[in-house]
Formats: sequence, C-alpha cells, structure tokens
Amino acid sequence: MLAIIGGSGLDRLSALDSTRQMTVSTPYGEPSAPLVFGRLNKRDVVFLARHGENHRLPPHKINYRANIWALREQGVKNIVAIATVGGIAAGVGAGTLAIPHQVIDYTWGRASTYFEGDDGPVKHIDFTQPYCETLRARLLHAAQRAGERLHAGGTYAATQGPRLESAAEIARLARDGADMVGMTGMPEVALARELGLCYATLAVVVNAAAGTGASANAIDLPQAERLARELMTRVVRILEEVAADGD
Ligand code: HPA
Repeated sequence: MLAIIGGSGLDRLSALDSTRQMTVSTPYGEPSAPLVFGRLNKRDVVFLARHGENHRLPPHKINYRANIWALREQGVKNIVAIATVGGIAAGVGAGTLAIPHQVIDYTWGRASTYFEGDDGPVKHIDFTQPYCETLRARLLHAAQRAGERLHAGGTYAATQGPRLESAAEIARLARDGADMVGMTGMPEVALARELGLCYATLAVVVNAAAGTGASANAIDLPQAERLARELMTRVVRILEEVAADGD
C-alpha cells in the first residue's frame, strides 16, 4: 500500500474516498495523528498528517519514529512525503514542485534512529542516495501524465525550526550546495531507509528562502501559507496519478 505523509497545507486529503480512521500506537509512542485509510484513484492508500490534527506539532516535536513505524506496520512499502520548503537555488522559485535527490541534515536533538544500540550490535545503513530512486521516477512520470511540471532533483537542507532561517544561514546553506530548505525532511527519510521502505519527497516551494529574491528583507508568511494551499491542488493531481500506478 502507498502511504502519503501530508505536511503544512495538507493536513487532510479530501480527495480520498470511503475513509476509515485508525488510532495506533507503536513501541516508539504515538504517531502524529490517526492513520486515514481510503481510496485515491481507486487504489488503497493511507494518509498521515505529519503535524497532527489542526497542525499542532512543530517540526522538532514530531514523533518521526512512531510515524514511519506505524506505516510499516500497516504493510506500507512506498511513502510519498509532501513537504513545503523555501527555495534557495535559482531553479526552485516559489510555486515550484520538486523531487529532491539529496539531503543535508542540520537538525539536532531529534530521535533519529531505530538503532539506538541498546539491543544488539551497532547497525549502520547506506545513505549515499537517501531517496528511493524508483519512487522518484514514479513521481516524475506521474507528474508528466498529470501535465504538472516538476523540478527533477535538488538538495534538501533540513533545519531545526520552528523559526525560519537568518539570511546568513541561508547563504551558508547555499554554499553547502542546498537548493531548498525545510524543517521536516530529517530524520524522516533516514528512518524510512532504516526500515527498508521506499521514500521520496514531493517538495512544494512556498517562498524564497530568507535573504533571497522576494524575501530579501523578510519572508511574507501569510503569502507562503496562501501559496501552500494553492499549490496543494497540483500536488493532489500528481498524487492521484502516482496512486494509479499501484502500491
Ligand atoms: N525555511 C524552512 N522551512 C520552510 C521554509 C523556509 O524558508 N518555507 C517553508 N518551509
């Protein structure tokens, strides 16, 4: 079954048919919200609101381990994660949808592994290509069929939040090679890899990153929220096509 993790601007997926909710718990605690099962384009999918109902969880308080574990427990193999981001590079201005291929982690203090080393030998995972290439390709094809342009690739910088970045921080991320910046990409993608799940992010660029372009002096947050809501109709069109491809 395909899972969709919804981020800011996508706390519920109204395109889902015949939904049923399930509250679950995991060895790592409670997921952000009940799992919502339904059909999208006649295919079974499960939806999870990353920030919980009514957007109550800030990025550093999300129980990423419980979220990914809960989806795996339901037999999920593929996870499409929706994430709003700020655009850093020239090709990823506000309004762009992108499928990042790399990630840099600037977060701290988050429970970021299932392999704490308490119950057996140390375990490492390969993370050279952090995102699942098969699912990235599937998203790109789905977008083509939906007639939606996607930016194919880019490096996602995961920051701690919940505050936005300073202009100097964004300049540093740009020097590091980041193309976009968000607050929830890590440890989510690493945890999916630890559990052997195929995970890809559909990034939704809702503002120019701090100190760049239209955000030279400040980020217009109400405008970013409006744009997030607007862009979600395009996101849902792509998701409908991805679902049509099966599990
Ligand atoms: N920075 C971090 N996270 C974000 C941004 C940003 O500019 N926009 C949306 N999520």
